[in-house]
Amino acid sequence: MIVVANWKMNPVSQFQAEKLAKISDKKNIILCPPFVFLSRLSEIIKNAELGAQNIFWKEKGSFTGEISVDMIKKMNCRYVLIGHSERREIFFENDQIINKKILSALNKKIKVIFCIGEKEKDLNKWKEILRNQIKKGLIGVSQNNFSKIIIAYEPVWAIGTGKSCDFKKAEIVRIFISNFFNNNFSNNKIKILYGGSVNSINYSDYIEKAGFDGLLVGGASLKSKEFLKIIKRNNLS
Ligand code: PGA
Repeated sequence: MIVVANWKMNPVSQFQAEKLAKISDKKNIILCPPFVFLSRLSEIIKNAELGAQNIFWKEKGSFTGEISVDMIKKMNCRYVLIGHSERREIFFENDQIINKKILSALNKKIKVIFCIGEKEKDLNKWKEILRNQIKKGLIGVSQNNFSKIIIAYEPVWAIGTGKSCDFKKAEIVRIFISNFFNNNFSNNKIKILYGGSVNSINYSDYIEKAGFDGLLVGGASLKSKEFLKIIKRNNLS
């Protein structure tokens, strides 16, 4: 089971980041801290892997405030989160932008955690929304690169709200995504994670009952005790 810890814009200090990283430093964990902590964390973690929360698709140049794929590679990141609903909503990242980011990451052999999910207002159109996000996000991705993509299904209404998705619904979505990859890309091995208000009580339903390959954890990844329960009960440590 893969557990991705998305720290978002937390914590404030390097001291706190180091503390959190040491506690979470287990196999099959992908830590996604803010960029400013990547360098230090790459020196101290031994078992976990590092992921970036974002990248820009250009290699270099006049792009104030942006970070390239080569830069995160130099920080020992092996993964990057792309398509997170906060990037889509707050930073207006559309499917074309997401597609460019995915292609540039794969081009440099960085694995992509590709986030997809429907908004609450689109609950009854979820199939169409997910189908579109996947198709448009993956335009031009070559067959041999599918092994470097992990899908994270995160219903937007479940992120940071405490309203996690019912595991039976999540299972239906997981099967839909899996079939979609099989039918459209002849890929039956795509890894699929669940994300959205995962905590130490509900996490096992998504793995054991709904059959997900892992979890994308936001808020709970910042609470050491809570996160330890999620990763320990799965014999990860
Ligand atoms: P959450 O965030 O676990 O706090 O809901 C998940 C995410 O945004 O990836």
